[in-house]
Amino acid sequence: MSSTSSNNNSAPQHEPMSQFRVKHGELVAAGYTMTEISQLLGRPAFYVYDRQVIEQQVASFRQHIPGRIKLHYAVKANPYWPVVQHLKPLVDGFDVASQKEMLLALQSGMPVADISFAGPGKGDAELLSAIIAGVTLNVESVGELQRICALGAHSRNTPQVALRVNPAFELKASGMKMAGGAKPFGIDEEQVLELLTAIAEMPVKLRGFHIFCGSQNLKAEALIEAHQQTFALAAKLVAACPYRPEMINLGGGFGIPYFAGERRLDLTPVGQSLQSLLQQYDSELADIELVIELGRYLVAEAGLYACQVVDKKQSRGTTYLVCNGGLHHHLANSGNFGQVIRKNYPVAIANRMAQPELELVTIVGPLCTPLDILADRMTLPKAEVGDWVVVYQSGAYGPTASPQDFLGHPNVAEILV
Ligand SMILES: Cc1ncc(COP(=O)(O)O)c(C=O)c1O
Repeated sequence: MSSTSSNNNSAPQHEPMSQFRVKHGELVAAGYTMTEISQLLGRPAFYVYDRQVIEQQVASFRQHIPGRIKLHYAVKANPYWPVVQHLKPLVDGFDVASQKEMLLALQSGMPVADISFAGPGKGDAELLSAIIAGVTLNVESVGELQRICALGAHSRNTPQVALRVNPAFELKASGMKMAGGAKPFGIDEEQVLELLTAIAEMPVKLRGFHIFCGSQNLKAEALIEAHQQTFALAAKLVAACPYRPEMINLGGGFGIPYFAGERRLDLTPVGQSLQSLLQQYDSELADIELVIELGRYLVAEAGLYACQVVDKKQSRGTTYLVCNGGLHHHLANSGNFGQVIRKNYPVAIANRMAQPELELVTIVGPLCTPLDILADRMTLPKAEVGDWVVVYQSGAYGPTASPQDFLGHPNVAEILV
């Protein structure tokens, strides 16, 4: 059982973390205990990703979202090579955020037509590399489009582009809003409409549009509203386009529950609404490939971060468990990756899952900073030195989103099981 964040039973609870099983009182991933995984790796702190849970998340998307809509994986969420390779046959494309991720996507064998490259501030070397490969560049500004045209003139290949549109609307209730108002991402909707007349004369192939509004959304109604606005905008763009686009990326934003009180996203109404939007815009969007791009929804639930208790101490009424891992391995769990007020992820003592004796503890890492918190005042099975602390919901934005070299402690290991 994962813990609650408080002693009080009426306090909000974390969603049950039943994606990982408990065997003889120990949490296991693909049948392995944390001790066994540590021995397998020869490392004391690690991320373990369960391939079956990744498959279940893809299956949940396929079950609820109409088959007409393709699924792309946003590699940034977890670029660990075995995870990328595992996802390759399960999804319809990859979205990348850098040249390094692009090379991973290409080497996975994903067809180049199904790889897109988004992100502001792409350098000339990155743009040229994508042009040579034939990867679709999601264009983030007019200046970037001009540089792509100039670079394309020196290449054998016509640059493949999609205009990333910053719509006038936003995705409400999102962990991260990436559209609406002034944004560094994409070209404002009004400017895109003007650009469409000029683009027919430019030495690029306009493949379509990318409309990405935000991420980490658990509210079906907010996603439905954004989809309604996205379809309406897509139809407007198609009508204004000098030729028929091949594809439209409808964005993503499907969230997963991290904190007490958050509930898993119900994809049933989201899928039903998409089905009716497909019918409503049937003729406007006929023959155009439609894509949803997801990162954390596919991988976050599949990951556990595990480290070991190296010290247990009391300080003026607080019991501390001090671990060999923390913020430098898992910045997001420490609350320093986009959270305004730090909240606890679901945490467990992996080798004491059935132990009835509980204790209120604060779990910290080895860094000499008060920011290095793994769990703040959580009631957990009473733990001792050598026990395994695990953090659930850790399969996305883990090692690559953490300052691993800060203070020079050992880096974290990873494994897909
Ligand atoms: C363009 C784009 N696509 C996909 C994602 C992935 O978001 P998530 O992991 O929340 O699905 C992001 C996140 O920032 C993004 O900016």
